[in-house]
Amino acid sequence: MCGIVAYAGPNQAFDFLIKGLQRLEYRGYDSAGIALLNGDLNIYKQKGKVQDLLDETSGKNIEGTTGIGHTRWATHGEPNKVNAHPHLSQSGDIAVIHNGIIENYATIKEALVKRGHTFLSDTDTEVLIHLIEDIKQHEDVDLFEAVRLALNEVIGAYAIVIISKDDPGTIIGARKGSPLVIGIGKDKKEYFMASDATPIVEYTRDVIYLDDNEIAHIKDSELTIKTIDNVEKTPYIQKLEVTLEAIEKGGYDHFMLKEIYEQPKSIYDSMRGRFNQTDLTFAMRSLREYESKIKNLNRIIIVGCGTSWHAGLVGEYLIEEFARLPVEVEYASEFRYRDPVITEDDLVIAISQSGETADTLAALEMAKEKGATIYGICNVVGSSIPRMTDAGAYTHAGPEIGVASTKAFTAQVTVLTLIALGIADIRGKISKDRLREIFAELEVLPTKVQEVLDTCSEKVIEIAKRYKDVDHCLYLGRGINFPVALEGALKLKEISYIHAEGYPAAEMKHGPIALIDENMPVVVVAPKRGYYEKVLSNIQEVKARKGNIISIVTHGDEKVAGLSDYFVEIPDTEDCLVPILATIPMQLLSYHMAVMRGCNVDQPRNLAKSVTVE
Ligand code: F6R
Repeated sequence: MCGIVAYAGPNQAFDFLIKGLQRLEYRGYDSAGIALLNGDLNIYKQKGKVQDLLDETSGKNIEGTTGIGHTRWATHGEPNKVNAHPHLSQSGDIAVIHNGIIENYATIKEALVKRGHTFLSDTDTEVLIHLIEDIKQHEDVDLFEAVRLALNEVIGAYAIVIISKDDPGTIIGARKGSPLVIGIGKDKKEYFMASDATPIVEYTRDVIYLDDNEIAHIKDSELTIKTIDNVEKTPYIQKLEVTLEAIEKGGYDHFMLKEIYEQPKSIYDSMRGRFNQTDLTFAMRSLREYESKIKNLNRIIIVGCGTSWHAGLVGEYLIEEFARLPVEVEYASEFRYRDPVITEDDLVIAISQSGETADTLAALEMAKEKGATIYGICNVVGSSIPRMTDAGAYTHAGPEIGVASTKAFTAQVTVLTLIALGIADIRGKISKDRLREIFAELEVLPTKVQEVLDTCSEKVIEIAKRYKDVDHCLYLGRGINFPVALEGALKLKEISYIHAEGYPAAEMKHGPIALIDENMPVVVVAPKRGYYEKVLSNIQEVKARKGNIISIVTHGDEKVAGLSDYFVEIPDTEDCLVPILATIPMQLLSYHMAVMRGCNVDQPRNLAKSVTVE
């Protein structure tokens, strides 16, 4: 949600800023802007994409070795040029970029207006930079101290970076609740800041992840970090593992397609080294270290949002089936505002690709306060959730840049499968023979995923051509495949803007069946496992009302395939792994339908990849 970049060093900042913004565009694309210091403070902004900003700067003075840049996902104020960042202080001498929300901005604004401040935009961010300048002037302090004092007055979430005409070569960055990474360049003479590491990786591998309530001050090539209480911190420098290739399109038309096709590898990476097929053991440190806790667990609560919540629903089936422990799955946004009963014998698992989702973070904080053990399943290394949890497992899916989550989902489900089996093993609920069978199937899972990708693509394109102009679509699944139906529907609606709903197949009779007619495609997950016969009956019910059936069936299936208008085959596998294979044709269907409708699949309207505001 909003991407920010900053540079201070010996080189021109412009190229890094623009390229960085393009890498961060997945976080928001309502408007973009940059500010450059070169004696003057030059600001360029534009509504729309980074490319629009680039066009805006054409032929203008883009000199400057200190600069900041922003790509916006609008919260306060509509997405137009005036509300685009950077925003300026009253004098116009200090500029800020901001990711997050200043909750008490209205009160601060009222006080500043009384003191003669005038505001140009509707944003909370402009209020913050006016406050900083006001403090600087009235308290007669330097910029760093003014920032520190202002942040003590602010309620809300932020990652900010500030530059000032009076302080060339200086950037000040601070975070609370929204991410900020600092890159340390050559000979410690140049510094980069960004919302995540993707803009930085091309320039340096040495990074510092700023913690909440910390302020970084880069001045004359020196970095100091202090807390907002003015306590100096020793920077902890880490090495970036992400590669440049991983964040580029690599010949695919879209990141989403690339990420769908990366799934054989991402699924393999998500389980690599985590179980041993020979001696039937697990090598997950997070489980081993909490063995005694796991033995005495009362219940597991899984929290997440969107696709991650769907993965959590699959996790519920897996953990209850294998570990025989009660599991509740909650929308993080609801959970955080209830007063749920949580005890020290509960394990709260947060699932999040980005590791930055504001609601998920808040839900975890609440669970921690109530004494639960908190566990994270995240993709982005070094993000906020893994840094606050007691334990966790990375999904290792690699950077996911397409806004719609694809490979992160299948990696989350893979990790949840291992966690369910690991907990079952610790609690003595699964036999070694059963473990052997499932491990064997996990071993061949990446190959089967590859097989789905190789065999279903043409068929899916044919289906997409036939149905690309529909207004509505229904997705049905039963048992562990019900969340797969939810995920299929979410993927279609978010990138193609076709209205889609996911339902447990048997629920159709309780309402949605009224929608079915000859224009309604119904996508059914119908593997020859689990509730096959029951799903078959549901399909008959749809057919009786002239609905169109698109089914996902087990290779060689004749009954469902025979009843379907279109069917896509997936290889047979263990019930618990069907969600992973069945999801892939659905991802491809959404992708192709959206592309055929002319939609921007990597950056669907109104969305942002990292939802750092509630
Ligand atoms: C859908 C999608 C979103 C995210 C949700 C949670 O394709 O990407 O629904 O799943 O915003 O994000 P994370 O997993 O980063 O917490």
